[in-house]
Amino acid sequence: MKKINSLTGMVDLLPSKSNHEDIANKIYTVERKLKKIFENFSFFEIRTPALEHTALFERSVGESSDIVNKELYTFLDKNDNSICLRPEGTASVIRSVIEKKLDGDLSKFYYLGPMWRYERPQKGRFRQFFQAGVEVLGYPEGLAELELVSMICNLNKEFKINNPVLKINHLGNPETKEKFSRSLLDYLNPMKSDLNEKDLSRLKNNPLRVLDSKDPKTQEILKDAPSISDYLPKSSLELLLKIKKIFSEECNIKIDHNLVRGLDYYSGFVFESISSDLGAQDAYLGGGRYDNLCSQLGGKDMPAIGMAIGIERLALISSLSKNSRITITFIIISNNNQSKAYKIAHNLRSTNKNIYIDVQLSDASLKSKLRRANKDNASYAVIIGDEELESNKVILKPLNIKDSEQTVMTINELKKFIQDLG
Ligand code: HAM
Repeated sequence: MKKINSLTGMVDLLPSKSNHEDIANKIYTVERKLKKIFENFSFFEIRTPALEHTALFERSVGESSDIVNKELYTFLDKNDNSICLRPEGTASVIRSVIEKKLDGDLSKFYYLGPMWRYERPQKGRFRQFFQAGVEVLGYPEGLAELELVSMICNLNKEFKINNPVLKINHLGNPETKEKFSRSLLDYLNPMKSDLNEKDLSRLKNNPLRVLDSKDPKTQEILKDAPSISDYLPKSSLELLLKIKKIFSEECNIKIDHNLVRGLDYYSGFVFESISSDLGAQDAYLGGGRYDNLCSQLGGKDMPAIGMAIGIERLALISSLSKNSRITITFIIISNNNQSKAYKIAHNLRSTNKNIYIDVQLSDASLKSKLRRANKDNASYAVIIGDEELESNKVILKPLNIKDSEQTVMTINELKKFIQDLG
């Protein structure tokens, strides 16, 4: 029968034991470390469903954005409602906050999970990918901006990112956006014939998005285009300079007035962190302020700012060593009392959470169980036979170490040994 493969752009994360590239292990390590950073900053986890009403993203990310326009996985449910797989997490968090009436509160949320966008897959770009995000709700422009940049500095250090650059910009107020869009239109309209189809459609639907163009011809045209900085209120420019100054020792921050971000809900400070190690898809995180989103989705006026990190991209560029775990493999060779031997492993499992205890469940020979333990990179084997069981003892054998001696020890001694390991 013909075999069925996974969908294009959707990746299986395989356990490290298989001979595939061990990206899964790195992704899990990245997720754990991110969670720790979020929790250290006093953020609390929120989990929202993978499926939402399509209208949620149309009204937030925006109908003119690539994400909604071309990349949504949408379909009709059995009642003919248009629903979709979420392409990002911010709109869902705000939907939930409004629905649960938390929109009067000050809150700091974080989330982690898969997102879906129907994009052309390439290095660092998938159709199902994982994001970790944070949203700071209820705080107007000021310290919340610093909190996010502080977190980015921390994250760059923790993940040992090579030469990261944090690009920052400010979109001003609604008046700024309107005036700047108009002057950009006046500048670009006479050059329409030099723009590609995608940039022409951006010009028509949201002129600011032309600044995002990757087309070298458009980039050349943009060199003499008006800059948003000419329309920004003084306070916006001051904020950018202040942020750059405060974090300049730890973080390479560049003010980039062409940074506009591809989602419609942004309203003030925006940013993206890039790394040249990533190639064309160089942003491993992005975000910004979105003070109007809550009211646009039917909630109260609630200022907000947030960001999301692409987990696969972060895993690609972080110089983290693989999760260095210690595995102890239990080899039960007792014919008479297998369950008593198993109970020893059971009791030790809670002793130290950093140690992985793998009880070999097959009835293969001692030799082949030891071979498997070595193949799995276990650090120690605990061998329990009938003789040991009778005297409440076990054999501890270090693995992958040449000429190492095995030791007979009591169960209490083994417990202490495992405690000291972690
Ligand atoms: P975004 O810039 O669309 O922002 O996505 C954030 C990050 O997700 C990107 O910088 C990138 O690392 C990763 N990413 C996006 N698309 C893909 C893909 N197809 N494959 C792999 N990684 C990808 C947002 O999603 C906003 N919700 C961020 C935010 C939160 N703004 C305010 N709060």
